[in-house]
Amino acid sequence: MSLSGKAALVTGAGQGIGRACALALAEAGARVAVFDLKQESAEATVATLPDPSSHLAIAGNVADSTAVKAAFAKAVAGFGRLDVLVNNAGTGTGPNDGSAKMYELMAQRNAELARGETPKTHVEQAVFMEDEGWRAVMAVNLDGAFFCTREALRIMAEKNIKGSIINIASTAVQSGEGPVHYVTSKAALVGMTRALAREVASRGIRINAVAPGPTDTPLMRSIPDEWIASLEKAIPLGRLAKPAEVAAAVRFLASDEASYVTGSVLVANGGSYFF
Ligand SMILES: NC(=O)c1ccc[n+]([C@@H]2O[C@H](COP(=O)([O-])OP(=O)(O)OC[C@H]3O[C@@H](n4cnc5c(N)ncnc54)[C@H](O)[C@@H]3O)[C@@H](O)[C@H]2O)c1
Repeated sequence: MSLSGKAALVTGAGQGIGRACALALAEAGARVAVFDLKQESAEATVATLPDPSSHLAIAGNVADSTAVKAAFAKAVAGFGRLDVLVNNAGTGTGPNDGSAKMYELMAQRNAELARGETPKTHVEQAVFMEDEGWRAVMAVNLDGAFFCTREALRIMAEKNIKGSIINIASTAVQSGEGPVHYVTSKAALVGMTRALAREVASRGIRINAVAPGPTDTPLMRSIPDEWIASLEKAIPLGRLAKPAEVAAAVRFLASDEASYVTGSVLVANGGSYFF
């Protein structure tokens, strides 16, 4: 799966799955632009890659189309081309999105169950979600992926590059487990993958998604331990994914080995749900 001579940009690559993707692509020979909110995080990832001086650390917010344009211009100025984009930047929460209230209700319901009562508390989030919370998650997970894809497609079309774009969705699209803004944004990302895969196929550009199940990253570690334990119990392979296991699926889709794969959702979820 050599990516030698190719250039990639990975969003949200300052930690977690994005960092693992940057490493997997770099180990396969690609030069990688590591894009994240903070310059220090992007630089910290670059320092973990083989031959760090051949990669780029770029700071910016995927939800800001002007910043996205500037980031892609930097990547092309540095590498002269762009073959692979991984739309990985994502978030599961936003300000005033009702998550604090939802956790409170969950604790209340758990206490009722622990007392042996029939639970009366409804664990809800949507009704407590303000516009700003909904928008914040959509802005990163969906708008951000679109802004980055648009820039990548402009560059690939201009340079006649048969590139590969990989969107990091989630197994939550199948299960429906998770907050409504997050699940909706990831389902929409799968829709975007399919629509654009058709639209750009005549240029030889491929667009696919990877749908990870619960993966051991800082994002996952921010949820309560007992919740993680119950997730693990429900996974047939009996454990969370390692970021490198998700990155391996991304590297496959990025490579010419996947030359006939487009519009697909490659599931890496330990057998929890089947697409
Ligand atoms: N961890 C899981 O269990 C899991 C499961 C399914 C899907 N995913 C998806 O995988 C992706 C990565 O998840 P992770 O667990 O590694 O997350 P993480 O929170 O550990 O890392 C996300 C990275 O993205 C960056 N980022 C966030 N918003 C950004 C923005 N607006 N612009 C640029 N960078 C931004 C963060 O700074 C961080 O470095 C996300 O899209 C997430 O939804 C994760």
